[in-house]
Amino acid sequence: MQYGYFDLKNKEYVIDRPDTPAPWVNYLGSPEYGAMISNNAAGYSFVKSGANGRISRFRFNSMMALPGRYIYLRDNDTKDYWSATWQPVGKPLDSYKSVCRHGTAYTVISADYAGISSEVTYYVPIGATYEVWRAVITNNSDKPRNLSTFGFVEFTNDNNYEQDQVNLQYTLFITRTSFEGNKILQHINENDGKDATGSNHRERFFGMVGAPISGYNGNLDSFIGPYRTYSNPIAVEQGKCTGEMNYNSNACGALQSDITLQPGESKELIFVLGQKDNAQANEILASYEAAGKVDSEVEALKEYWHSKLNHFQVSTPSDAFNNMINVWNAYQCFITFIWSRAASFVYCGLRNGYGYRDTVQDIQGIIHLDPELAAEKIRFMLSAQVDNGGGLPLVKFDHNAGHENTPDDPEYVKETGHPSYRADDALWLFPTIRKYVGESGNKAFYDEVIVYANGGEDTVYNHLKRAIRFSMERLGDHNMPAGLHADWNDCLRLGKKGESTFVAFQLYYAMSMMHELAAERKDSEYVSYLDKAQKALGEALAACWDEDRFIRGIREDGVVVGAKKDPEASMWLNPQSWSVISGFASKEQSDKAMQSVADILDTPYGAKLLDPPYIDHYFDGALMHIFNPDTKENGGIFSQSQGWLILAESLLGHGDDAFRYFEESSPASMNDKAEQRVLEPYVHGQFTESTASPYAGRSHVHWLTGTASTVMVGCVEGICGMRPDADGLHICPSIPAAWDGFTMEKLFRGKQLSITVKNPNHVQSGVASLTLNGKALDGDYVPADALADKNEIEVVLG
Ligand code: GLC
Repeated sequence: MQYGYFDLKNKEYVIDRPDTPAPWVNYLGSPEYGAMISNNAAGYSFVKSGANGRISRFRFNSMMALPGRYIYLRDNDTKDYWSATWQPVGKPLDSYKSVCRHGTAYTVISADYAGISSEVTYYVPIGATYEVWRAVITNNSDKPRNLSTFGFVEFTNDNNYEQDQVNLQYTLFITRTSFEGNKILQHINENDGKDATGSNHRERFFGMVGAPISGYNGNLDSFIGPYRTYSNPIAVEQGKCTGEMNYNSNACGALQSDITLQPGESKELIFVLGQKDNAQANEILASYEAAGKVDSEVEALKEYWHSKLNHFQVSTPSDAFNNMINVWNAYQCFITFIWSRAASFVYCGLRNGYGYRDTVQDIQGIIHLDPELAAEKIRFMLSAQVDNGGGLPLVKFDHNAGHENTPDDPEYVKETGHPSYRADDALWLFPTIRKYVGESGNKAFYDEVIVYANGGEDTVYNHLKRAIRFSMERLGDHNMPAGLHADWNDCLRLGKKGESTFVAFQLYYAMSMMHELAAERKDSEYVSYLDKAQKALGEALAACWDEDRFIRGIREDGVVVGAKKDPEASMWLNPQSWSVISGFASKEQSDKAMQSVADILDTPYGAKLLDPPYIDHYFDGALMHIFNPDTKENGGIFSQSQGWLILAESLLGHGDDAFRYFEESSPASMNDKAEQRVLEPYVHGQFTESTASPYAGRSHVHWLTGTASTVMVGCVEGICGMRPDADGLHICPSIPAAWDGFTMEKLFRGKQLSITVKNPNHVQSGVASLTLNGKALDGDYVPADALADKNEIEVVLG
């Protein structure tokens, strides 16, 4: 079933059936003021932190009675009422038409009912710390219409989400609301701070310009009414807000306006919500009296986002690929980059920092679009690396570089709940930094001096050396990096001295990269160290090959995990992909390992993380056994791992397989089976239930997942074959043999590249010739210094 479609030209996803299988969400705002909105206007807003800056309420894990940004309309002659978004009133869909356009940081929802149309544009202006809902209401009938409109939001009573939900004997008694001119003002802890000490006094406002206000409520119960819900508020039903304010109960902002519209006439109402005091609110509201402000702010938002996304655009025979790479996967990468795992309809904001690996991975997804934005965060993450080379498992939002405790200090463990280093965290720096230097050409980055989390400082080059040393100082009995607390897989505890092949492959990759770099820097001592160390690591890894697959690891007690003979979890996805990505696996091993993935793990929705799932034969460290079979880490289709699989197949030149895995796991491919996938068809989730589940194909945990960046990298570096290094760009696509070719537009170090890939012989990979501005070049490589400002590049496969 299909609920919407991609509008590639406008970079929007258009939902024309509002009864979607889940709330389908978009992100508005910035780290200073964040907001999420569903296709029916459900959602919540916060200043800076979903946990500590929450302004409006939400009901997580639910499709029932969701709070949101609602505008009700009432026909005062017929007494019928509805909402400008299908929910919350929920009129029958044969008489109510709704179209939601989710765009880049704005959402427009229009409706048509009983001869009245409405269009509401929701957004947070660039640089602003408040949100705007602009409603245009039009009378399409042939008689004058007497209407009442009601804008409504349910405030929290406390900025702290948990306090607001749980500590009711306190938070119910700290707020009151007042009506001030054209707005409801909510006062919290009003008397606090009058002595000029640190204050918990806050004010929020919900105001309106565009028409006189004819009624209002600041008290939730009086607007909704007893034993009612958002779908049938008493004030709307009766056409009258009572004027009641909140004092010691729950607050809301509700603003009524009575308007008459002549046939064909439109009226524009602008609602603004934010955490501001009276004077600031007045100033903001007054600024929206100026005609055209909303349109120009929305234009500015489009310009801001579209110009970023336009730094890499593809045009391939696959609509799903174009829509994901050009718009939605790219936008999701920025969202994960900004919000990490902080706030969504699943994450309620209580995570108190950045996961080290998560963020270093997230950065990868935007490097090809905005390398310098990425560099800022790379510096930040390097400043969260401990001087022993390991990453802080959790980097606090108020990270104080140079002055932090580490997992070796009991205070850190107590404060963050993270008892130990992870084996993989700092190893993610290698592909991320390599990608940044490739995209930017900024080789001097390796010489930048950056502090360590716990004090001291060093060049980036030496930070990376220490990351390698961290692993080398913690080898297990078989000469591979020890599992420590865990590796990428949060649910796999091999034991402190247990060994992970996934981490060993990451280290192998890191050593190759550093080998190249050290050679270039004439650091011969380090080159010879790496020669020896990598050889020994290679020997250890060679012993991990088990006929047609790599094992997953070796437990502290010596038992192999992921051996072919095992009754459960005998085949794991990540070690196979990473054996290829790391450059370790021989051609024969790569082909066999990928074939085993296809034979054992592949499903119509992507490849499973492991098979068979743990049911009876788990060990204590196989924490994933607590999940239902074929769910999450217990044999679910872990979406992030699809990205590494796509990359691995591409690196091998297997364009058909790489693209098949893209298609199976891509949200866009499920657009016409949206009821089965449930999640937004334009957004990656954390995992998809696999074939043992009665709900195979259903995906979970939308938006904030490492899937976004990893699949992006798999597609851009892998399928598109865009592999920059410090001196230029390899263009070596791996595409379906059936494609005649495709084109790419790329901004590379300030220069425009228009790339045409031709595939006359219908191969999957292999560059037969490459010309730059009409001149033939060797191989698949474009040296950066050969580029003009505008470049035509032709790549012929064969
Ligand atoms: C979640 C975590 C991530 C972890 C993955 C696999 O996505 O955020 O850090 O690597 O699960 O367990």
